[in-house]
Parts: sequence; structure tokens; C-alpha cells
Amino acid sequence: MEIRFLGHACLSIESKGKHLIVDPFISGNELAKHIDIDSLEADYILITHAHQDHVLDVERIAERTGATIVSNFEIVEYYTKKGFKGHPMNFGGSWEFDFGLLHYLQAQHSSVFADGTYGGNPGSFVLEGESKNIYIAGDTALSMDMKLIPLFTKLDLAVLPIGDNFTMGIKQALMAAEFVNCNRVLAYHYDTFGYIVLDKELAKSSFNLKDKELILLEVGDYIEA
Ligand code: NI
Ligand code: MN
Repeated sequence: MEIRFLGHACLSIESKGKHLIVDPFISGNELAKHIDIDSLEADYILITHAHQDHVLDVERIAERTGATIVSNFEIVEYYTKKGFKGHPMNFGGSWEFDFGLLHYLQAQHSSVFADGTYGGNPGSFVLEGESKNIYIAGDTALSMDMKLIPLFTKLDLAVLPIGDNFTMGIKQALMAAEFVNCNRVLAYHYDTFGYIVLDKELAKSSFNLKDKELILLEVGDYIEA
């Protein structure tokens, strides 16, 4: 499974030959100016919650690609009413897609669209792909619910917010990695705005001290899960 960091909380993932985009926020991100949003491939768009820094480019990408939007019931309803394709889920639910088995789980945060429309409960995803399993935490606080994840899947990679203020910071992201029992972490949701500037040296050394790998990608770079 190939994962590309597109800045902030946006990822593109290739799994079983299908292309997924998670939480598209590119055109509004100064740090992602070199990403050509109109050449990104998408069969699916996964959305964790309705905040603008996670959905800004959903319609632009979905209009061009015809991608199916996967999120909570309320967010999918918001887009299907506008004529887009959607697959609604809710907490505890799993679905065998053609890109892998997807679980939709809780996140401790809030969720509302920029126009004030209710965005349901904020969520996170666990994707069991071809041979690797990843957790995409979304915007969230540290939560005891994270301890449930290793009871049903063995993670190869955890994608965790680390920028603090709106989500977990370094210390709690490190605890989250322990809660989900995963030693390989891709950090996201940092540096985009003033409130979430990350001390990268401190972040890296904090994880290293606990024998965990913290991956900080340049916008546009790839890793294998
Ligand atoms: Ni948010
Ligand atoms: Mn956010």
C-alpha cells in the first residue's frame, strides 16, 4: 500500500489498484502549492469530519473523478444531496470495499461544515489493505477507545495528528501509538497554521526514546505502509 502525504491531514493511498484521497485540503494550503490537485486520481474520497481543513477540495475532486465519498451518514448525505456518489458509515461499522476492509471508528473532536450544516460525529478509519493495516486517526484527542483497535487488527502504520491545540500534541500522540500498539507513526495535522507549528526535533526524539519511528514527510512525498 502506497501512501502520499498531500499536506495537513490529506493523504492519497493506493490499495488493490484503487486510489483513495483522505480529507482533501490542498487549494487552501500554502504548504501544498506545488501539488497539482487536478491531476490526482481518486476512486474514493474518505472524510473524517466536516471541518473546512478536511473537506475544502472534496467537490472539486469528486466532480472531475466521479469518486465515491465515504464518511459518516450526515457528511455523505450532505454530498449526495448535491448529486455526488456516497457510501455512508457509522461507528463500529466495517465494509469490504474493492480497496480493502474499512472500519469507521470514533474520534474525540467536533464536526460542522463551513456553512453551519451539522457534520455528524467526527471519525477515524482503520483500513485493512492488501497485506498492510493502517489507522488514520483524523482530528482527535487521546482516547481510551484507541485501545480497542489492537484487539481486532495488527497495525503496520498509524497516522496520527501531532500539531497540538486542535488535536493531540507530541506527548499524547506518543501515548496514542502505545494505545494502538503500533511502533511506526506517520505524523500529520501540523505546521499548516500558526496554532499547530511542530517542534520536529522534539517530536522525533520523543518517539525515538520510546523505540518508535516517527515519520515526517515533505508535502508530496510517499511511503510504503
Ligand atoms: Ni477538525
Ligand atoms: Mn483539522
